[in-house]
Amino acid sequence: MGFSRILVALLAMIIGAVAVAGTGDSEYYGAQPLAKLAMHKASIAIDGKAQVRATPELLGLKGEDIEFVKVELQNANPTSDDWIGVFSPSKFNSSTCPEAVGDIKDQLPLICTAPIKYQFANYSNADYAKTGNASLMLQLINQRADFSFALFSGGFQNPKLVAVSNAVSFSNPKAPVYPRLAHGKSWDEMTITWTSGYNINEAFPFVEWGPEGGPQTRSSAGTLTFSRNSMCGAPARTFGWRHPGYIHTSLLKDLWPNAIYTYKLGHQLLDGTYAWSKKYSFKASPYPGQDSLQRVIIFGDMGKAERDGSNEYSNYQPGSLNTTDQLIKDLNNIDIVFHIGDITYANGYISQWDQFTSQIEPIASTVPYMIASGNHERDWHGTGSFYDTDDSGGECGVLAETMFYVPAENRAKFWYSTDFGMFRVLHCRYRT
Ligand SMILES: *[C@@H]1O[C@H](CO)[C@@H](O)[C@H](O)[C@H]1NC(C)=O
Ligand SMILES: *[C@@H]1O[C@H](CO)[C@@H](O)[C@H](O)[C@H]1NC(C)=O
Ligand SMILES: *[C@@H]1O[C@H](CO)[C@@H](O)[C@H](O)[C@H]1NC(C)=O
Ligand SMILES: *[C@@H]1O[C@H](CO)[C@@H](O)[C@H](O)[C@H]1NC(C)=O
Ligand SMILES: [Fe+2]
Repeated sequence: MGFSRILVALLAMIIGAVAVAGTGDSEYYGAQPLAKLAMHKASIAIDGKAQVRATPELLGLKGEDIEFVKVELQNANPTSDDWIGVFSPSKFNSSTCPEAVGDIKDQLPLICTAPIKYQFANYSNADYAKTGNASLMLQLINQRADFSFALFSGGFQNPKLVAVSNAVSFSNPKAPVYPRLAHGKSWDEMTITWTSGYNINEAFPFVEWGPEGGPQTRSSAGTLTFSRNSMCGAPARTFGWRHPGYIHTSLLKDLWPNAIYTYKLGHQLLDGTYAWSKKYSFKASPYPGQDSLQRVIIFGDMGKAERDGSNEYSNYQPGSLNTTDQLIKDLNNIDIVFHIGDITYANGYISQWDQFTSQIEPIASTVPYMIASGNHERDWHGTGSFYDTDDSGGECGVLAETMFYVPAENRAKFWYSTDFGMFRVLHCRYRT
């Protein structure tokens, strides 16, 4: 037993060290694709001879939280580097940057909002630059607001907004989504953290749960959120900012070792009606020291990617989808996951945390998904990070410590240990 404890602690450190040795991160793997768009200079140049249409207008009619939308373009003045940005909320024109981001006053009015993702207009129609006609299939996830599709000319460096589509929306944009499990402070406690559009003055958040097939009870949840002012710098504080929604965490206690539990996320609205999530299940952790098989997965530096090929041909961490899919395929053989830092590589583009939690939902909703903080979550100049870099894009740890629960005394510090059967895992931050 002592041996496996030491082994896991060592393993975590070795992987951390490999991650450090393999860094250069963004330099090595290419820049965050949203950072290639000069959104701080994007200006408005609406052209009546260009049109964008998106269908269907209403998504998630059967409770889905991922759907494809067809986007059709007609542009009388097409150029080869025209691109489509997906914006949310659909009225994304904020016109003024809340903070100076350079000497750009001559280009007012500014848009000052980054899209959630983008694709070249010619992606599915190679002759777009000649015909001005194109049709794209883009995947959306439910993330609390409606969407629009905007056509830009001027390439990535001098974006000019030419046309905006109709809005499309999920039928319940505020729905509770993307649950992630994590151990509580004791082995027989499981926490469930999720995201919704319901603030605490609109609805009471809770988890309805119980043994599989047995009586279900309700546990209340706490709610966290934060504002733009909590970000340490650009882009998180400027054009990368997007409201993170409300992050709820409920603590399920007195779990029976190895028992299967089912759960649903709920919000009781002030009028007495409910908003519910899908139904999920998990297996409670073994008693510490219990002689049984435990299958533990430890990795770092995963990131996210887009299955529809968007974000410049999805050339940024495409392997994260392979890793995610492999873990999902093998989920029956996995008891707990440790993602020890460099989680989303959102790098200050806040929307990407929703995309990441959606990507890992099948895993994180089923087995504890224990995180640690990496340079891409925490580093920011002059904010107490171990390395004085801008790798977090201004997030300075706020997203990581709010979007995921960890059983630490001080969540901003990310030091904790957790017991899992024959293992005691010690988590320390690396490269922060
Ligand atoms: C689409 O446009 C981009 C940017 O101009 C270009 O790099 C790419 O080769 C084009 N693709 C096709 C299929 O024409
Ligand atoms: C953007 O907002 C500004 C100020 O609110 C307004 O003057 C401008 O017309 C808007 N542009 C578009 C394309 O909606
Ligand atoms: C573009 O699409 C429109 C509407 O479908 C059609 O009327 C027009 O002929 C197309 N233009 C070209 C150049 O293909
Ligand atoms: C990852 O998945 C893509 C798409 O399915 C596939 O083309 C590629 O070969 C995979 N890469 C590896 C290393 O398995
Ligand atoms: Fe990394």
